[in-house]
Amino acid sequence: MVDINNIVIIGAGLMGHNAAQIALMAGYNVTLVDIKDEFVDNGVAKVEEGLKKLEEKGKLGEGVVTANLMGKLKKSIDLASAVKDADFVLEAVIENMNVKKEVFKTCNENAPEHCILATNTSTMSITEIASATSREDKVIGMHFFNPPILMRLIEIIAGEKSSDESMDIGVKIGESLPCLRGKRFVPKVLKDRPGFIVNRMNAPSQIYFNYLLDKCDAEGIPWEQFDADAAGKMPMPPCVLFDYIGIDTLSHTGNYYAKTLSPDFKPGKVITRMVEENKLGRKTVQGFYDWSKGRPKPDTSKKAGLLNLELTFAIGLNEGCRLLEEGVCTGFKVIDEANMAGMNTPGPFGAGKKNWEKWSKMLEDLAAETGKDYLKPCALMKSGGFVKMRK
Ligand SMILES: NC(=O)c1ccc[n+]([C@@H]2O[C@H](COP(=O)([O-])OP(=O)(O)OC[C@H]3O[C@@H](n4cnc5c(N)ncnc54)[C@H](O)[C@@H]3O)[C@@H](O)[C@H]2O)c1
Repeated sequence: MVDINNIVIIGAGLMGHNAAQIALMAGYNVTLVDIKDEFVDNGVAKVEEGLKKLEEKGKLGEGVVTANLMGKLKKSIDLASAVKDADFVLEAVIENMNVKKEVFKTCNENAPEHCILATNTSTMSITEIASATSREDKVIGMHFFNPPILMRLIEIIAGEKSSDESMDIGVKIGESLPCLRGKRFVPKVLKDRPGFIVNRMNAPSQIYFNYLLDKCDAEGIPWEQFDADAAGKMPMPPCVLFDYIGIDTLSHTGNYYAKTLSPDFKPGKVITRMVEENKLGRKTVQGFYDWSKGRPKPDTSKKAGLLNLELTFAIGLNEGCRLLEEGVCTGFKVIDEANMAGMNTPGPFGAGKKNWEKWSKMLEDLAAETGKDYLKPCALMKSGGFVKMRK
């Protein structure tokens, strides 16, 4: 396996600058690339700020100082020359296929032959991105969770032509990157399927939430009462969470899964209307709630009595079973551990082993009530076949 010394990170935004910080902390030489000086300078400033904060708290390690680490960081707005000595490239530019393909084409033409090209895409096909290069065996997905310095999970995704060696290098680099919350979990995702492991497992709950939001809307039930159903059971109630994530992002991912997995993921009436009215949540100040005075604190005294959180666990278990059926990962333990490392919540298989029969029946009823066939239990869930699996 080649020695990795020089890492080039393309895109100095939210994910790119944070990835650059942990790569420096791991001891690599890092070059941060963007399209304009101001963008790359902004990213470099954030890297320095992040390192300084850790240094002040004594978390950079014995004798390690920000200035020394910053000495190993270069910046560039010329991608072709930036990748000339790269051993490993991590692309973290905007989520746009044409832009990503253009970036990979330039990297392919200018990086040394041994260089691995990784993409941090959340939704796009690794195989399609790799097709812009003549080294498809050396292209992999490397999916970080936000922010990389705090979230332990990094999914390493195989495109159709990724070699075992490229995947092993991806895992090795992932494991070498420090995380403030403990040991990294860097599973291999064996198939290039939408959402990879953790995002995919959590995606179908949106079908259920969309159904309930539209029901509230039709029956004139205030969002506060819907959110009150989750009081004390979720770290953030659903509508506050949707505003926080961004209604446009929810709509975008819903449409993406509608195209790639099932039309049942299509955003509902409420979400579609909110996007049309530019009520996108925190970022536009108005969403389900008014954010002008900071995070809203809904009154939880009156409940709608609609949301059944047990159903969200059942939906997660069903999707976890689909991931196993499709051969996306090596076993259920990987899915549970990935969920914990990426979302800080337990995966569905622990509780699912005891509840799968009851939950299968609940999902049959939910699919009948909503008319969304994707919510029906898959064969592996219905048979409880996963209970006998060892890993
Ligand atoms: N934000 C998240 O929570 C998150 C989580 C996991 C993965 N991702 C993925 O990471 C990638 C980056 O997301 P982000 O949130 O950091 O976005 P961002 O908008 O914060 O940053 C993207 C950066 O890429 C730069 N850029 C655009 N075109 C470029 C080009 N041709 N060459 C170099 N730089 C270019 C932009 O100027 C910008 O600075 C996306 O693919 C996204 O899906 C994001």
